[in-house]
Amino acid sequence: ASNTESEPVAEERSGSKMSGAATKRKRRVLLGCTGSVASIKVPQMCQGLLDRGLDVAVVCTQSAEHFLARADCSMPEGVTRVWRDSDEWSSWQARGDPVVHIDLRNWADLLLLAPLDANTLAKLSCGLCDNLLTCIARAWPVGDIGRPIIFALAMNSAMYQHPLTAKHVAVLKNTLGYVEVPVVAKTLMCGEVGAGAMAEPDTIVEAVMKALSSVSGGLNGVSFF
Ligand SMILES: Cc1cc2nc3c(=O)[nH]c(=O)nc-3n(C[C@H](O)[C@H](O)[C@H](O)COP(=O)(O)O)c2cc1C
Repeated sequence: ASNTESEPVAEERSGSKMSGAATKRKRRVLLGCTGSVASIKVPQMCQGLLDRGLDVAVVCTQSAEHFLARADCSMPEGVTRVWRDSDEWSSWQARGDPVVHIDLRNWADLLLLAPLDANTLAKLSCGLCDNLLTCIARAWPVGDIGRPIIFALAMNSAMYQHPLTAKHVAVLKNTLGYVEVPVVAKTLMCGEVGAGAMAEPDTIVEAVMKALSSVSGGLNGVSFF
């Protein structure tokens, strides 16, 4: 995977999206993944999104990096880049330098949070933003139905059934307008059986396509292939 390219930020810095010039391009999905073992399915989700003709970039938390670093977890060709927390700070040295979370927020047409773990779910529900992914989500215009946020939880069934999970999910859906792709019940990676597993990659890709279909005519002067 071409993990050293910097198209999203470079494009936003050049102002091409903001210029108002008539442009036609692919729709863009920013896939944010967190510290669930379900992050090993990120390459499969990316491939599904690429197969549907979308541009895809990935943002991972530091915990998710452990899973993405596995030899069997390399990104498919075509993924623009995997962005990490360290990129946020290495990109900014002085006024005028890229602020990565803002540039990625501007680049994306849709933010997909998959897998979304209990920790980042809790942070999002109360507005914490202490890493690249949560800063992007916090800077996302709330209620912008043209630029949806979709989330797919993944956690141990006891974590999923914990009363705080439902409270946090309700904030994401009802206050912030995020769209949930429900968990499934199966034998979890920890060996326990129950609800809490991330939905299948195909189901998540379908949810993305459904959400994007509402903006298929274009957005902010940009039309889509
Ligand atoms: C092997 C392993 C698997 C994990 N799987 C999950 C999981 O599926 N869901 C979850 O909520 N937390 C899981 N965790 C715990 C998170 O990684 C931990 O809460 C971490 O602080 C999350 O950080 P993040 O939200 O910034 O990614 C797992 C931890 C380990 C070590």
